[in-house]
Amino acid sequence: MTRKAAVLGSPIAHSLSPKLHGYWLEHYGVEGTYEAIETAPEQLAERLKELQNEGYSGCNLTVPLKEQVLPLLDWIDPAAQAIGAVNTVVFTPDGAKGYNTDAFGFMRNIEADSPGSISRWLKKVVVIGAGGAARAVVAGLLESGAEHMTIVNRSTERAGALVSALKPLTKGAAKLQVAGWDQAETMLRDATMLVNTTSLGMLHQPPLELSLENLPTDALVTDIVYNPLETGLLASARARGNSVVDGLGMLLYQAQPAFEYFYGVTPDVTDELRAQLVE
Ligand code: ATR
Repeated sequence: MTRKAAVLGSPIAHSLSPKLHGYWLEHYGVEGTYEAIETAPEQLAERLKELQNEGYSGCNLTVPLKEQVLPLLDWIDPAAQAIGAVNTVVFTPDGAKGYNTDAFGFMRNIEADSPGSISRWLKKVVVIGAGGAARAVVAGLLESGAEHMTIVNRSTERAGALVSALKPLTKGAAKLQVAGWDQAETMLRDATMLVNTTSLGMLHQPPLELSLENLPTDALVTDIVYNPLETGLLASARARGNSVVDGLGMLLYQAQPAFEYFYGVTPDVTDELRAQLVE
């Protein structure tokens, strides 16, 4: 039986997901299909029913459907509920189940890139941004046991909302605090990890203007922006000796559990796959 899955969004033409899942389907010889289906927000409810009736295993969702899908599901993973977004829907005999694999993807990318335990990075983390992507990143960090986190955002109100929503995921005595944009550079003192979750530094976007002067040189710096692969932030971090992890891996690893849900095979993220997507 052919297993079917798809990515829904609007616009969806530029999504890398069909390429990514298509590569794995071929590589593992899985009898399956993965397509992009243009779906406007007002079509989402109908589209999910259609896919379910046509025997699809599930689907991925892009912004803004990730948030809009919540009330349409029969079950939502608690972390996805706290993040407020679902990027993977799985159709089961018990109904449509929603997961968020972005938090996993973010953490797995860092683990894959770091020899040894990642706990040394999790002592004092500074996260720039408080949007949808930041929520998944912070959820992943909290679930992995981050001890102290500062959320720096232009709108501190939005950062406060993020902290309230994700507090339920904190383990033990984890501390979460909010800081304004003008405090960002001060917050880098003693930080063990710095993450950019905003679109600043992306192609056609303004750069992220942040002096790394206060950041210890043994801190890890990572960016969720992957176009360009080496953002201005990563270039300046690398130049001063910090370890850096680029954002493409998060995209690859978030797809790993989705592929497993859809096709029953756990795929590997390899250098060959990375190279194909960089192209
Ligand atoms: P995503 O889902 O990709 O995270 P988003 O929810 O729109 O997108 O969030 C964008 C993030 O980038 C926010 O943290 C936003 O800051 P505000 O909450 O203050 O808007 C941040 N951002 C975008 N453009 C920015 C800019 N020019 N300066 C500072 N922060 C910016």
